[in-house]
Amino acid sequence: MWLYQASAILLAAAGLAEAQTGNASALPFPNTTYPGRESPALAGVDLFNATSPPFYPSPWMDGSGEWAEAYRRAQQFVSQLTLMEKVNLTTGVGWEGEACVGNVGSIPRLGFPSLCMQDSPLGIRLSDHNSAFPAGGTVAASWDRGLWYRRGYEMGVEMRGKGIDVQLGPVVGPLGRTPAGGRNWEGFSPDPVLSGIAVAQTVRGIQDAGVVATTKHYIGNEQERFRQAPEAFGYGFNISESLSSNIDDTTLHELYLWPFADAVRAGTGAIMCSYNQINNSYGCQNSYLQNYILKGELGFQGFIMSDWQAQHSGVGNALAGMDMAMPGDTSFLTGASFWGPNLTLAVVNGSVPEWRIDDMATRIMAAYYLVGRDEASVPTNFNSWNRDTFGYRHPVPQLGYQQINFHVDVRNEHGRSIRDQAARSTVLLKNTGVLPLANNERFTAVFGSDAAENPWGPNGCPDRGCDNGTLAMGWGSGTANFPYLITPLEAIKEEVQNNNRIIQSVIDDYAYSQIASLAGQATLAIVFVNADSGEGYISVDGNEGDRQNLTLWHNGETLIQNVTARCNNTVVVIHSVGPVLTNTFVDNPNVTAILWAGLPGEQSGNSIADILFGRINPAGKLPFTIGASRRDYGTDLLYQPNNGGAAPQDNFYEGVFIDYRAFDRANIQPVFEFGFGLSYTSFEYSNLNIARRSAGAYTPTTGLTSAAPVLGNFSRNLADYQFPANFSAVPLYIYPYLNSTDAATAANSSDYGLPAEQYIPPNALSGAPQPRIAAGGAPGGNPQLYDVLFTVTATITNNGTRNGEEIPQLYIGLGGPNDPIRVLRDFQRLSIDTGMSATFVADITRRDISNWDTVTQNWFISDYPKTVHVGSSSRNLPLTGTLEL
Ligand SMILES: *[C@@H]1O[C@H](CO)[C@@H](O)[C@H](O)[C@H]1NC(C)=O
Ligand SMILES: *[C@@H]1O[C@H](CO)[C@@H](O)[C@H](O)[C@H]1NC(C)=O
Ligand SMILES: *[C@@H]1O[C@H](CO)[C@@H](O)[C@H](O)[C@H]1NC(C)=O
Ligand SMILES: *[C@@H]1O[C@H](CO)[C@@H](O)[C@H](O)[C@H]1NC(C)=O
Ligand SMILES: *[C@@H]1O[C@H](CO)[C@@H](O)[C@H](O)[C@H]1NC(C)=O
Ligand SMILES: *[C@@H]1O[C@H](CO)[C@@H](O)[C@H](O)[C@H]1NC(C)=O
Ligand SMILES: *[C@@H]1O[C@H](CO)[C@@H](O)[C@H](O)[C@H]1NC(C)=O
Ligand SMILES: *[C@@H]1O[C@H](CO)[C@@H](O)[C@H](O)[C@H]1NC(C)=O
Ligand SMILES: *[C@@H]1O[C@H](CO)[C@@H](O)[C@H](O)[C@H]1NC(C)=O
Repeated sequence: MWLYQASAILLAAAGLAEAQTGNASALPFPNTTYPGRESPALAGVDLFNATSPPFYPSPWMDGSGEWAEAYRRAQQFVSQLTLMEKVNLTTGVGWEGEACVGNVGSIPRLGFPSLCMQDSPLGIRLSDHNSAFPAGGTVAASWDRGLWYRRGYEMGVEMRGKGIDVQLGPVVGPLGRTPAGGRNWEGFSPDPVLSGIAVAQTVRGIQDAGVVATTKHYIGNEQERFRQAPEAFGYGFNISESLSSNIDDTTLHELYLWPFADAVRAGTGAIMCSYNQINNSYGCQNSYLQNYILKGELGFQGFIMSDWQAQHSGVGNALAGMDMAMPGDTSFLTGASFWGPNLTLAVVNGSVPEWRIDDMATRIMAAYYLVGRDEASVPTNFNSWNRDTFGYRHPVPQLGYQQINFHVDVRNEHGRSIRDQAARSTVLLKNTGVLPLANNERFTAVFGSDAAENPWGPNGCPDRGCDNGTLAMGWGSGTANFPYLITPLEAIKEEVQNNNRIIQSVIDDYAYSQIASLAGQATLAIVFVNADSGEGYISVDGNEGDRQNLTLWHNGETLIQNVTARCNNTVVVIHSVGPVLTNTFVDNPNVTAILWAGLPGEQSGNSIADILFGRINPAGKLPFTIGASRRDYGTDLLYQPNNGGAAPQDNFYEGVFIDYRAFDRANIQPVFEFGFGLSYTSFEYSNLNIARRSAGAYTPTTGLTSAAPVLGNFSRNLADYQFPANFSAVPLYIYPYLNSTDAATAANSSDYGLPAEQYIPPNALSGAPQPRIAAGGAPGGNPQLYDVLFTVTATITNNGTRNGEEIPQLYIGLGGPNDPIRVLRDFQRLSIDTGMSATFVADITRRDISNWDTVTQNWFISDYPKTVHVGSSSRNLPLTGTLEL
């Protein structure tokens, strides 16, 4: 069975071309799971070496949901294409082959340009005159649907202006299984509902601006370590395959897949498959997850794009549902491709059926039409590989010297919006009354390198791979260049000086005698501390993407301690990628306020000043739990290979019990619970009302699909696929053409010519009508899952002295022995003036009260009593009721 998953014609070992250098660092390796913290549902289940069942054929697009018109237009376009033109749409031209981080081939005959795929989830990477937005994990703390949409739209507008077709974001994988996961900050929240609503709003925003959104990384991409064998090799780990995230069916549906379903329902045009294996089958060739779950059950209509070098075979990936190979070469700069000429050959020899390549091309073009790229497209006017105005179009072979950067300023007025987004995402964790600052403080002192500019400049470290100066973004491909970075120190200094008061700072974290001296004079101290993480290809201070610990960087705890020892009015501001341990200072009476400001982007200083000085009343709520120790989270990263030289096995034994669900189940008191956040005013909750709504019964989807459409025809004569006469090929560039009329020579692979039964799984070539999936039926799954069964209302009153905003949250207890005590299901950000009330309205859908049944492969509502809780955090829930089913 594994053979169909892991192998195929044209399979090759992943190269070591991009291996990093370094040593396996000596870490205080924690256990992956903590004894006694396994999910009760997984008692007796062995996840080690779990397998992923095969599922074929790959579902073909059918234009369901909002895709009908895009589908019609895509079919019309693809019907005109030759086989090699279709191959060009599906295969990248190779790493650094063109201006964007990924480009597919073009169709010169029809004047159709190469599609441009560009990072990142928080703005345009490797460019200039673009904005640097707050990170996903930061804006998650706003719990604000409108803000998420607006941020997505603004990013989309910038992408569009640079000539980018496909934005490589947003992120819901990692979801945030463990707080130390290096890329958690690129995503939103470990809660699937908060992430699901945020991703849907972001997708809509990006795509309404005329750019295709790529929801990534599908799926189980929960840690950096071991995500790619060559990268791990560079860090001194001798493993032959990527880590396998071993996830059971229920956990997949109730947790990790949930926000992907929301993204699909919102119309995401692309989904990126991940580096890791899932149940020992690579993300981009896992037929179960791509064919059955994503394109079958979730009815995904767009295209699946590989992560960069996450493709490990040719035919195997095509039959397992992948639609676009990125960046196109087997590994960076080999000049060879699993697709390109190999895909041309595979279609000609029947290993990949024609309907499958037609479906790949149709899905890509449908996403293009869905978002209106035919009208929004402008030529790409920047180059990822060089910031100079002139340079090589193809930098590796140094060909095509020309103007490559046109420095188009796409920022519009987004800076103002970014300032607002970050301020509204700031969480007030502690306040003894010092905030908001009256700005009549006699002597203000600011401390910490995190308050100030990186001495190397805001973009001084490539892909932000350092922690110098104020932290406003993590590191890796999920970054953008800053147009400027307003530091906290400059914003606060301007504010204080405008009032002719005193302000001084020490930004050397280790100048303890100067710190003590200044702290002793200050009537107010503001200490900035941080904790960073990022993507696995960069190691910062021994953190190979993932964090080694949950404590502060640059000895932030000691810095705080030195300040508080001399100053009884110390405000702590934390810039971090996720939870940090606050035990050493949280209860210190001299710490009079604590703010979590996340990764705020380019307006960092202005955003925090707006909160400190009370221009904006904080209303952000933690999108994760802050615990007293990493053990309290109940699960952890896999820091050491545990399977010899074979794929490390990352067993998700905690099931659905991550973050607050783990704390609640083990009855562990967090320091600050999920959903917690203070305001400068106060709110009262009353009048819970639960109204039953009429909805039909849940009916499984039945029947058969139509047969796979075939668009056009093609020759079986290899002579028709040779490089055109006098063609001047760019070295290392991936083309669809063959270099020989002998198939084995053209494939250049020892795997060529294997008997088909060794690499073509049963049923994989069939274009006959297929049974529909019971839990499917439309993009996002069975449409009746989204029927509203109840509407809950409550009254929220601002009983304090300032106008403010409050985020009432609705949690449901599903009641079963394997269920979390309560799970978030809805929320609303309400603006309520002092003395006034507002009504919180939350709909409860069928999905919200369902569990996944692994036997029927469908959702069902259990007989256990269901409770509803409404309040201001996951542990402050004054209103409770029951759902009468
Ligand atoms: C076809 O794929 C194989 C890997 O399976 C690779 O070694 C070979 O170079 C590829 N052929 C071409 C022409 O890119
Ligand atoms: C790690 O797990 C082992 C085996 O379950 C246990 O004996 C040990 O105490 C654990 N260590 C920690 C630090 O939790
Ligand atoms: C898991 O699979 C690897 C690779 O096939 C094998 O070496 C190992 O013995 C297996 N371990 C268990 C416990 O099944
Ligand atoms: C495929 O794309 C490349 C790169 O844009 C282009 O040079 C070539 O002409 C295209 N081939 C076909 C058949 O359209
Ligand atoms: C910037 O960061 C790098 C990488 O962590 C470090 O080596 C360097 O000392 C830092 N430079 C400054 C000026 O802070
Ligand atoms: C945690 O990691 C940071 C960053 O590498 C490091 O500065 C700090 O010393 C570490 N903390 C502990 C307690 O080891
Ligand atoms: C300040 O930091 C130094 C260096 O770690 C430490 O030895 C000292 O105890 C701290 N002072 C106070 C008052 O906390
Ligand atoms: C709080 O600050 C005062 C100085 O204002 C100092 O005397 C006292 O020791 C500090 N307390 C703590 C717990 O650091
Ligand atoms: C700090 O100490 C000063 C001087 O002892 C006192 O006037 C002030 O009220 C204290 N501030 C706080 C916030 O406790």
